[in-house]
Amino acid sequence: MDIVLLGPPGAGKGTQARLLIEKLGTPQISTGEILREARKAQTEMGLKAQTYMDAGKLVPDEVVVGIISERLLKDDCKNGFILDGFPRTVPQAQALEVMLKQQSKSLDAVVNFSVDSEELTNRLSGRRTCEKCGAGYHADFSPSKQEGVCDKCGGKLIQRDDDKEDTIKKRLEVYNKQTAPLIDYYRQKGTLKDVNGLGAVEDIFNQVLRVLGLS
Ligand code: AP5
Repeated sequence: MDIVLLGPPGAGKGTQARLLIEKLGTPQISTGEILREARKAQTEMGLKAQTYMDAGKLVPDEVVVGIISERLLKDDCKNGFILDGFPRTVPQAQALEVMLKQQSKSLDAVVNFSVDSEELTNRLSGRRTCEKCGAGYHADFSPSKQEGVCDKCGGKLIQRDDDKEDTIKKRLEVYNKQTAPLIDYYRQKGTLKDVNGLGAVEDIFNQVLRVLGLS
């Protein structure tokens, strides 16, 4: 299946994508992750993206469209993919449609997670990620056994640079202005599947499976 996970920052796209990988065996493609890796490696693209990300703004469309058009051509996407954090603007959605058309494909579903902004802020400010294996935690909702240490690999847990209070606020504003219009865009195309993103991770995953016709 070719799936897009849509929702505001902290809605649980990454969390649900990791569960879907196990179910579907298709790759999760997170533009945020790819950009953070590029930053770490100090590539030209990574350095360009850094200023936008730290300010809570979107990286220019041409940069992310370039990333995705290369990534979707890789062999592991032949049997499907889970896009997490792309598209985020209408021009990105239109570019995706063109890319898929060139491969005689179209999206199977766009799963839209809705969560209120108070909950989003709580989730993002408590999020911790293992710098070694990428496992996700939350300081209050799903803490590691030993503070600051990953349960899975013993790596160090870090807070993302853009999970600071001011940047979270900006990211939510940017979502409402630039990304939320995609809800109507995909609803009109008939591919949107609404999921209530509040509640236990497993319950939300069951909803996702249901809307995708997988349960
Ligand atoms: P990106 O990395 O994509 O960040 P985001 O969309 O802001 O999403 P997040 O990763 O913050 O949240 P999520 O929905 O994945 O939630 P998660 O599962 O982690 O993008 C970062 C930046 O890169 C952007 O700001 C932009 O600058 C740039 N960028 C990326 N893509 C771009 C694009 N296409 N165009 C332009 N620029 C782009 O969960 C969050 C926390 O909540 C975790 O701690 C988790 O444990 C917890 N949690 C999850 N589910 C639950 C639950 N049900 N109950 C309680 N806690 C929960």
